Amino acid sequence: MYKILRDYKELSSTVADIVEAQLKEQPLSKLILPTGSTPLGLYDELVKRKLDWSLVIAYNLDEYIMNIDHPYSYHSYMKKNLFDRTNIYPDHCHFPFRPVLSFEDKINANRGIDLCILGIGSNGHIAFNEPGSAFDSRTRVVDLSLQTLQDNSKYFDSVEDVPKQAITMGLGTIMESKKIVLMANGVHKFQILNVAMNGGVTETVPASILQKHNNVEVYYCG
Ligand code: PGA
Repeated sequence: MYKILRDYKELSSTVADIVEAQLKEQPLSKLILPTGSTPLGLYDELVKRKLDWSLVIAYNLDEYIMNIDHPYSYHSYMKKNLFDRTNIYPDHCHFPFRPVLSFEDKINANRGIDLCILGIGSNGHIAFNEPGSAFDSRTRVVDLSLQTLQDNSKYFDSVEDVPKQAITMGLGTIMESKKIVLMANGVHKFQILNVAMNGGVTETVPASILQKHNNVEVYYCG
């Protein structure tokens, strides 16, 4: 259920090919985009390809509950790594916000998502849907798990500085995307990826819900 690629360069270029094809075929595409260390190569590759983002509408998977101008917020991450390096309109870049139902309404008003790119956490989360998240969950405020706080402390000065809460798209929201691509990078992700893709479909492994999607591609490099 997943394809193993040679290295990180191939992971990034393979997923960039998918995004490029989507944008060329349908310039007015609605994308869900991830943050984290995994998509950095993808974003560099997309910038290099000088694609036309002028009609693209982007939604991010999640954001910490923190000042969005903070250098470690996901707003800042996306501006720095993708948005400010393309011709996407700032008004077309959306992050989950409160009230969360208005965020969902915005996605639905735009007739849904064409392509959703995901990473996977070492505990099997997708976006910030931590283990135990309901498969029909919608956008909401969540407490981050200890594992996620530890994993994400590499981006902050210390684990105490990592925000304890976030707003995340729900698993139900993500599953409504027409196409989903999951990227996993590093040997430390192999075991959880294997459990999620080949084990039982269970809310204790949130990414396992992807087994129920009819148009999903999963790429791994070690
Ligand atoms: P990472 O995070 O890309 O930094 O490994 C992935 C995730 O937590 O979804």
